Amino acid sequence: CGIMGYIGQQHTQEILTNGLKKLEYRGYDSVGVAIHDGEEVHVTKAEGRLDNLASRLQDAPLQGSIGIGHTRWATHGRPSDENSHPHTDDETEFAVVHNGIIENYIELKDELVAEGATFTSETDSEVIAHLLTKLYDGDVVSTIQKVVEKLDGAYALGVVSRHTPGKLYAVRQASPLIIGSGNGENFISSDIPAVLEHTRDVYILEDGEMAVLTEESISLMDVTTGKSISRDLFRVDWDMEQAEKNGFDHFMLKEIFEQPKALEKTMAGRVDKETNEVDFPELAWTEEQVAKWDKVHIVACGTAYHAGLLGKAAIEELTRTPVDVEVASEFRYRNPIVNENTLVIAVSQSGETADTLAALRQSKELGAKTLSITNVVGSSISREADNVILTLAGPEIAVASTKAYTTQVLSFYLLGIYLAQKKKQITPEQNAQYMAALQEVPEQMEEILFHNDEIKEYGESIKDAKSVFFLGRGIDTAVALEGSLKLKEISYIHSEAYAAGELKHGTLALIEEGTPIISLLTQEKLYDKMLGNIKEVSARGANVLGVTMRGNVKVTQYVDETCFIPETYSLFTPLLSVLPLQLISYYTSLALGNDVDKPRNLAKSVTVE
Ligand code: G6P
Repeated sequence: CGIMGYIGQQHTQEILTNGLKKLEYRGYDSVGVAIHDGEEVHVTKAEGRLDNLASRLQDAPLQGSIGIGHTRWATHGRPSDENSHPHTDDETEFAVVHNGIIENYIELKDELVAEGATFTSETDSEVIAHLLTKLYDGDVVSTIQKVVEKLDGAYALGVVSRHTPGKLYAVRQASPLIIGSGNGENFISSDIPAVLEHTRDVYILEDGEMAVLTEESISLMDVTTGKSISRDLFRVDWDMEQAEKNGFDHFMLKEIFEQPKALEKTMAGRVDKETNEVDFPELAWTEEQVAKWDKVHIVACGTAYHAGLLGKAAIEELTRTPVDVEVASEFRYRNPIVNENTLVIAVSQSGETADTLAALRQSKELGAKTLSITNVVGSSISREADNVILTLAGPEIAVASTKAYTTQVLSFYLLGIYLAQKKKQITPEQNAQYMAALQEVPEQMEEILFHNDEIKEYGESIKDAKSVFFLGRGIDTAVALEGSLKLKEISYIHSEAYAAGELKHGTLALIEEGTPIISLLTQEKLYDKMLGNIKEVSARGANVLGVTMRGNVKVTQYVDETCFIPETYSLFTPLLSVLPLQLISYYTSLALGNDVDKPRNLAKSVTVE
């Protein structure tokens, strides 16, 4: 979910809705605002997208100089007007927006209902509004402190109160929240892009902190003790242009086309110009330190997990150190074998995914050295890990991740080479060859993007498929998983990815006449094995697209269509082979008339577990 809050003399309603528009990537099941008009707090909310709210606000505008807004990704309670935020108590003394999950809400709700409170939603969040009224003691700050004491779980809160027409309150506990500092106006928000058109100066709230905002001031305090906290403002050095569509129809397409530049940026500064060796000034690990790690554990979710699978391939291949990769939501509830001799790498575009953050914290407690690979400066995961590699992809807005993925994969290649250097497992010549190959990738990506039209035709041709299968062997299997995720998340077509050799052990039963199969053949030593698997599916009537390296013409005799990609080292092919897959999913989704950037049921940043 996304939170936006404003206090100041500009048009509050407009500032809130514009801010929420930029936070829609966090959820778009419903949206709402509450505005204090100096006397009363008024709430307007609507199920569905921001347009629904905008038309309600157009019919009945809200005036006032303090407000909070919310765009929701439903967890407790289906998307509906009633379950939309802000939530209020019976008399609308308080209005609250909440991102996170209140784990003990059922007990709290039972108690409040027994005492006569009337609940109008099925959400966990509504208990907060009722608790505020119940515990109100004449001072909103101390009331919020008392309420927070009763809450278990994760929450970022924005609060307005009828009792304080000049103040806006924010609390953070395990869900992100920033405070924007303006001139005669201040903001709260779940993320920086929402305030960037107004200010570049922000405070990043830490867990357990509260902020009290007036038009002229921002005071930060420890929510438990009330002790005031002083902190330097954080100056944002990127601009909104990077977060706009720049003439592309969708953010996803723009972000796919930004990949060559994103890779160049991620690489720059990490390569020593003289020796052409990898250097990570932000790590500065010693040879002794690196030698100590006998195992690497990668934790992540979704697309970042798929990047992690390639991280395993790279680190194992280049350093012969064993690597485990695990989805963070599983890792955190096992008893993982992680200790001071383990390097744990948390991968996350947003740096805020709740499960990945929890896995990172658990690893720290177990004594591991932690490294994060994230795209968002100042995010929780980037701040809490011992070291950070920032992917310099720029803001990624489309829910389906593209440029974040390729920059994560590139970061793993660079890291693998860096670790191999430290362990003296790579010669300077090999090193230089690898780096030369990686430096060629952005241009090779441009070549693939140039042939966009052919891929578009293929994407459109599979729009009516019931199921689409992706096949690969070796690292191609990891790319197949990512291609399949991309397709299902935005086209809603059922899709599975399989290690091609495993298909015959069950899944082959699903192949019918005309079933589209997208097969990856980028690993020379596995070509013949893949061709064998392609024969198996063709014999059952499948329609096969082969994505393979230029020069591998043999494949054309086995498949119905071929997509050639430029040649590079077999370890690095995912950086290129994933591009046609991203484009296929984009064009399939477009042909189906789906909302490409905001697929149903999903959110870009999942800050609840
Ligand atoms: C959400 C997004 C995915 C993303 C995953 C992990 O589910 O829809 O695209 O891969 O979260 O996000 P992160 O920000 O941790 O990379």
